[in-house]
Amino acid sequence: MSFTATALEGTKSEQYAQLTQQARALVDGESNRIANAANISALVFNSIPDVNWVGFYLFDGTELVVGPFQGLPACVRIALGKGVCGTAASSRQTQRVEDVHAFPGHIACDGATRSELVVPLYDGDTLVGVFDLDSPLLARFDADDQAGLEQIAAVFVGSLA
Ligand code: SME
Repeated sequence: MSFTATALEGTKSEQYAQLTQQARALVDGESNRIANAANISALVFNSIPDVNWVGFYLFDGTELVVGPFQGLPACVRIALGKGVCGTAASSRQTQRVEDVHAFPGHIACDGATRSELVVPLYDGDTLVGVFDLDSPLLARFDADDQAGLEQIAAVFVGSLA
């Protein structure tokens, strides 16, 4: 297989609809979580502007453990309730943080990060992990980004066996 990135067109939500379709195509017929997390990280990192880290933390039954990602090396383990990722996982709410320096307990992995969006991944009531995006720009993520990235996160969860 060779992947050809198709330029995204239209409004931001139209672009996310196209990106979600590309994510669906990438995981089609595959249920391995590492493979699908890796390809979705690479797709999103290379398709949307102004992100310095895109990837997954996967729940190991106790805490979040770094999974496939694109960006600089990151902290390996995050306890539930800690940092932006652990807060998304324990609250089951997407965390859209305009200024990470103002988020109590933010865990700095890449010092360039200024804003962050973390989508919790639940399969029903079962915690799978989180989908995490960092940006070097303040307030990089708006409500359209949140909706689009939640759709892409749902494609990942839906792909799992
Ligand atoms: N900033 C995250 C840690 C993960 S890195 O951004 C990749 C947090 O506070 O949970």
